[in-house]
Amino acid sequence: MKIAVVGTGYVGLVTGTCFAEVGIDVTCIDIDQRKIDNLRQGILPIYEPGLEEMVTRNVDAGRLHFSTDLGAAIKDCDVAFIAVGTPPGEDGSADLKYVLAVARGIGEHMNSYGVIVTKSTVPVGTAAKVRREIEQALEKRGAQVDFDVASNPEFLKEGAAIDDFLKPDRIVVGVASERAEDVMSRLYKPFLLNGHPIIFMDIPSAEMTKYAANSMLATKISFMNDIANLCEIMGADVNMVRRGIGSDARIGPKFIYPGIGYGGSCFPKDVKALIKTAQENGYQMQVLQAVESVNEGQKEVLFNKVKKHFGAELKGKKMAVWGLSFKPKTDDMREAPSLVIIEKLLAEGCTVSAYDPVAVTEAKHSLGDRITYAEDQMEALIDADALLIVTEWPEFRVPNFTVVSRLMKQKVIFDGRNIYDKQELEQAGFAYHCIGVRTGHQEPV
Ligand code: UDX
Repeated sequence: MKIAVVGTGYVGLVTGTCFAEVGIDVTCIDIDQRKIDNLRQGILPIYEPGLEEMVTRNVDAGRLHFSTDLGAAIKDCDVAFIAVGTPPGEDGSADLKYVLAVARGIGEHMNSYGVIVTKSTVPVGTAAKVRREIEQALEKRGAQVDFDVASNPEFLKEGAAIDDFLKPDRIVVGVASERAEDVMSRLYKPFLLNGHPIIFMDIPSAEMTKYAANSMLATKISFMNDIANLCEIMGADVNMVRRGIGSDARIGPKFIYPGIGYGGSCFPKDVKALIKTAQENGYQMQVLQAVESVNEGQKEVLFNKVKKHFGAELKGKKMAVWGLSFKPKTDDMREAPSLVIIEKLLAEGCTVSAYDPVAVTEAKHSLGDRITYAEDQMEALIDADALLIVTEWPEFRVPNFTVVSRLMKQKVIFDGRNIYDKQELEQAGFAYHCIGVRTGHQEPV
């Protein structure tokens, strides 16, 4: 079997490489010549644990190719994935111009049966648009080629994408013909060996599944952030509440961690896009509107704690920030809460010294030299008036607190990810603020 993956962004690159890993011949296509040249040498445009080695291994084995030539790759492939970007337009709806341009390109070059699969997260109805675009391109050149479209949303988490792809909980595929279903079953067979299902459905349902899954997860997080804020007011401890509810199998222990709001490329974009799609069709997604507004507010919670602690004295303080990426194990800064927090600190006249293991280059695009970037996590603490934990990278979990207190000017920690033990830190003389737990010695109401 031969496949083409168009778009070597995050999704396309992981998808193409993982298919090559199980022995399929894969060509990854991109219009960006520099990106392709780099990939051929094993230089990746993104950071994802394990991906670089996997790319190099499969390129060396001759199963993974990179090219800018869409036409050549399309001519003899059985399946073509469209994995190009769908940036949000001004109004929050997904912009399909890249997806449809690829569809046109496919129609201009294909000359035998193939399944064209949308892998990018696209609004319900996009596969139908892709089909029309290909049909029109075929008509233009007077070609009669049979093809199918399919929708195969991805559920990859950044930082764990390879594992998610190789050992998926489920694979969702929307198809409109038995022939396409058969091709897609054969393609995914190597990933289903340990009993995880491939779920076939109609195309609009597959498209909707992606938005519903991400919106449900975003809802869990915003719900928990709301509960955490109330816990603080009422003198309850959200860590206990989380364990209490998470042990109910109907609720489950995952994705109920409160924090500083969800970020990244998927949740914010998909929640907005689904609200927008509904509005365009005369329906209000009331729960999701609340999910979004809780999330916007939650990005400010940590800053508000800083402001409350320092009061009028905030100006001129030096803030150490650990973690910049929207979550650990990625250099992705899209919609990262760190940006909101740091902008607010700067606006108050603070100086910021930040450390992140991989996201500094990305962070510089937005923050430039308005903050300083430390070489290691301890360096960021020198003379700091407070430490803010913004991303829960594993190396921040058990720092040597004796060294931490020696380096800092004041022993104050604002923990946006609840990674430390409040009692332990208070005993060590720190003023410790986290999410969803009342600090200080106020009596519960
Ligand atoms: C998400 C989905 O998980 C994935 O299935 C989809 O295909 C793409 O979007 P990703 O954005 O990579 O993946 O990250 P994820 O691990 O889901 O985290 C998203 C955000 O939620 C992060 O900002 C994270 O910090 C936050 N989060 C997650 C919480 O605040 N609390 C939680 O309990 C879990």
